[in-house]
Amino acid sequence: MAQPLPTLNLIGAGRVGQTLAHLWMRHGLVQVQDVLTRSNQTAQTALAFIAPGVDTAHAVQHIACMRQADLWLLAVPDAQIGACAKDLAALARQRGDAPALALHCSGARGADLLQVLRDQGWSVASAHPVLSFASAQTAVAQFAGTPCALEGEVTACDALRPLFTAIGGACFDVRSQDKVLYHAAAVLATNFVPVLQALAEDAWRATGMPDALVLRLRERLLRHAVDNIVALGPQQALTGPAARGDHAAIARQADVVADWDPQAAAAYRALSALALRLAGHPPELP
Ligand SMILES: NC(=O)c1ccc[n+]([C@@H]2O[C@H](COP(=O)([O-])OP(=O)(O)OC[C@H]3O[C@@H](n4cnc5c(N)ncnc54)[C@H](OP(=O)(O)O)[C@@H]3O)[C@@H](O)[C@H]2O)c1
Repeated sequence: MAQPLPTLNLIGAGRVGQTLAHLWMRHGLVQVQDVLTRSNQTAQTALAFIAPGVDTAHAVQHIACMRQADLWLLAVPDAQIGACAKDLAALARQRGDAPALALHCSGARGADLLQVLRDQGWSVASAHPVLSFASAQTAVAQFAGTPCALEGEVTACDALRPLFTAIGGACFDVRSQDKVLYHAAAVLATNFVPVLQALAEDAWRATGMPDALVLRLRERLLRHAVDNIVALGPQQALTGPAARGDHAAIARQADVVADWDPQAAAAYRALSALALRLAGHPPELP
């Protein structure tokens, strides 16, 4: 006889919660049960996306209305995870629920945010899909091949790995003590690119360049830099005064940038020192 599917409750059903629950449902891996968000309207909308026409699935307005479940996904903003775990632990203790498996999806925070549940015998983990979830619809289409960082209790990670793998996730383990540095690295890899692009645009505009030319310069340089980094690695792809070890040129440019935007000049100097280090030159600037 076929085993019943594990039941899934969601606390928080925004971009990540909807995406995972939708994919797990579509692949027949879970039975979605109760969905709680801040407003009943968003819970209803999320449920319609996750489990359309499934009459055993409910949007609820309070955690006390959530039934027992095998799997609890806390897909709320990072700052809310601890409080939601506390509420869930209190509910489970009061009702005498059987311990279950709980996970959150923060990249920067570890499974220790769910310690209050672990203290009651639950299995806890964090699972961070390395994808920009612009919307649940786009993320569902883009999810296959997404690296997913698992961290937390071994039993919890072992139970989650097949769930993420079955929807196309490429799971890897991150040690709890490495979680913050792991996420800082993801920030370095992606989040500062738009910041630097915006600064470059502003600096070109400050020289009086027309918009069309600014956009063309930015696009050409960015595309070629990405291609070169992917093909050659960061060190070989590095060009410019730091790659040549031209300390005098860097110092001259930093002074001009400082006249234009002192905050940008601090970043320019710090990044130039790191670029010199990457190129194997002495990082000190005159
Ligand atoms: N977005 C990404 O690209 C991405 C990538 C990887 C991991 N993550 C992680 O995934 C988690 C969720 O992020 P997200 O982008 O999906 O967030 P989101 O789209 O902003 O959705 C958050 C959801 O949590 C609900 N919520 C907020 N506070 C709540 C509370 N106290 N009780 C119940 N529900 C509550 C919101 O309800 P309402 O809709 O009613 O406000 C909404 O449904 C975070 O830990 C984040 O770090 C995000």
